[in-house]
Formats: sequence, C-alpha cells, structure tokens
Amino acid sequence: MQQVKAVVAKAMGEPVSIETINVPEPGPGEAVVKIQACGVCHTDLHYREGGINDEFPFLLGHEASGIVEAVGDGVTDVEPGDFVILNWRAVCGECRACKRGEPQYCFATHNAKQKMTLEDGTELSPALGIGAFAEKTLVAAGQCTKVDPKARPAAAGLLGCGVMAGLGAAINTGGATRGRSVAVIGCGGVGVAAVAGAVLSGASPVIAVDIDPRKLDAAKNAGATHTVDSSQADPVEQIKQICAEVYPGAEGADIVVEAVGRPETWKQAFYARDLAGTVVLVGVPTPDMKLPELPLIDVFGRGGALKSSWYGDCLPSRDFPMLIDLYQRGRLDLDAFVSEEIGLDEVEQAFAKMHDGNVLRSVVVF
Ligand code: APR
Ligand code: ZN
Ligand code: ZN
Repeated sequence: MQQVKAVVAKAMGEPVSIETINVPEPGPGEAVVKIQACGVCHTDLHYREGGINDEFPFLLGHEASGIVEAVGDGVTDVEPGDFVILNWRAVCGECRACKRGEPQYCFATHNAKQKMTLEDGTELSPALGIGAFAEKTLVAAGQCTKVDPKARPAAAGLLGCGVMAGLGAAINTGGATRGRSVAVIGCGGVGVAAVAGAVLSGASPVIAVDIDPRKLDAAKNAGATHTVDSSQADPVEQIKQICAEVYPGAEGADIVVEAVGRPETWKQAFYARDLAGTVVLVGVPTPDMKLPELPLIDVFGRGGALKSSWYGDCLPSRDFPMLIDLYQRGRLDLDAFVSEEIGLDEVEQAFAKMHDGNVLRSVVVF
C-alpha cells in the first residue's frame, strides 16, 4: 500500500478537498497507474452534487492518461512503464455481447476489486471506476489501453471520456462517412468532438448548432462547414436548408447528434434528420426528463434510426491507439480541447469555469 494526494468529494454539494488516500498494491487483474493528466468533466461535478449516486466519499477524475507503475497477477496486456489511457470499465470477454464480437456492449464490465481508502479507512468510490484526480490510482488492468508514449498526456487523456464520447457518437454510433451530412446540436466539449469526428469521417456538410457564439467558433475550428446560432430561432429549418443546398432534395441531415441532453434539443434533432436519417443522443439527460410527445407517424414515416451513444460505442483497444495516431499525424486536433492545464488544487475553480462556458476542458497535469 502507498499514500498519495487526491481530490475527494466528501459530502453532497460541498466543495472538493485534497486528501491523502491509500492505494493498495495491485491484486490479480489489477494495475496501479501513475497519473500524468486528467480532464475535468461534467460528470465529476454531477458526482459531487449527488446527481449520480450517494456513495460518498467519491474519488473524482476519470479522463486520464498515465504510466503503469505496477500490475497484479495474470496481467499480460500492459506492463510497468507503458503509457496508457484509462477507460471506464474493463470488458469481461465472456458475456453474450463479448462472444458475438461486440465487446463495446459488454454486459459484465468491471473495475478494480480492491478499494482505495481515506486515511481513516473509509472506502472511496472512484468516479466512473477510475478516480484519477490522484497522483496514483488503482484500476482493473483491462481499463488501461497502451498508446504511443510520445503523445501529450493532457490531450491523450481526454479520449478517456468526453472527446471519445463525441467522436464515437458521430463515427461509431451515427455511422458518419463521406457522402453524408451531419448536424451536431450543442457544441461543448462533447459536441465539438462530434464535429471533429464527422470531419474525420469525410462527411459533408458538417453543421454545428449552439446558442453560444463562442462554442460555434470552437466548432468552426474543428472543421464545421456551417454554423447555426439557435438562440434566436429553431435551427431545424436552417439545417434542412443547408442540407438541401448541398444535396438537392434532402430534407435534413443524414446524422443528427444531440450533445446537450434535453428534450427540446432532442426534438430538434428528430425533426432535423433526413428521411432514413439517424438521430444520436449523446448528451446525458437527467432522470426526470421525458421524451417529447411526438406523433408516432413521424417516427414511422421517416424511417431511419433513433439511437443513443454510450461512451461513443467505443472499443478502447481499437479506437484509442488509432485516434492517438491520427492526433500525432496532425489529423485530429486534440490540443484544441485542452483549454488550460491546472494543478490538482484547482479542480473546484475548474467546476466554476464550466458554467461560464469559456473552457472546453480544464486538465489537471501532474
Ligand atoms: N441549443 C443548442 N445548444 C445548447 C442549448 C440549446 N437549447 N442549450 C445548451 N446548449 C449548448 C451549450 O451552449 C454548450 O455549448 O450545449 C453545450 C453543452 O456543452 P457543455 O455544457 O460543455 O457539456 P459537454 O461536456 O459538451 O457535454 C454535453 O453530454 O456528457 C454529457 O453531461 C454532459 O449532458 C452533457 C452533454
Ligand atoms: Zn466524463
Ligand atoms: Zn462481456
């Protein structure tokens, strides 16, 4: 066991604090990772506010990269010294989804079995099974994906959550490709990543929609071909018009990604899709939100698909090394998502900055 500094949310709604935590030696199938960088995500704030569950105290942080320090028995995929990106859950390899070759839908994902604790022995709940606002953390070895060690840690770590969710929503879930149009509603970190994913896929036009002009600028930098400010008017007509100009006869976008997580914007996405188009929900709704009431005939008559994207339907072992390779070759600007590098003691300020909308991501670097 060793002791390290970490950011802990001790009680609902209270500011986080820096604590000394105990990190056990890795058991079978586990790894201890020396964290190099960890992005500040909305989900960390949701944990602190009690929006996810009540298993306080939480060890926050889950968009991270680091160096494997030690591995437990039976671990063969990674070894000490490897540079890795952490993911939420290791897949089981045994369930129906894994057996049919779709481990991204694994029904029996898992995290480390042992618990990290506070100095007084209280067990910590690591955010999304990671807990990486810590100098070191304990995870299941299957949560570690080895990538090119030359990649900048602050940029690489972002693939561990928000950026992967957005890229994957466009590419993996939505099936964006050349010859198809993509609209993205909501251009925070997740939405801009969806724009970047659509651009990578070769899709065109790529239409970015937001109520905040600064976010539209960020989307433009990520390669959006068109931007729509929806603070004044419903964006559906504008999306339809842009798509019809590019593909005569089109009645909307082939893929519409909703990256806000609200019924109103989901409804916009629903009506902005072309016949046989796909709507992808990647924004996270709150439990009380309901689907908007829609004529069923509008679901039936348009064909296509209404999907949700869970972690960008990513397969870390496939997607992380590939996306880091594209980053290294200058085809995916992960640096654009890193608005600032901060210290471990600045997480609370970073939560405040999320609200004023000036940052895509604050990233703690060690
Ligand atoms: N129409 C269009 N855009 C909107 C609207 C709206 N009605 N309301 C909010 N937005 C925009 C905001 O201006 C902001 O740019 O949606 C964006 C949301 O971005 P962030 O708050 O930065 O959130 P992000 O990290 O991108 O995550 C998006 O996915 O992971 C979830 O909890 C997260 O639900 C959130 C969503
Ligand atoms: Zn996250
Ligand atoms: Zn499985």
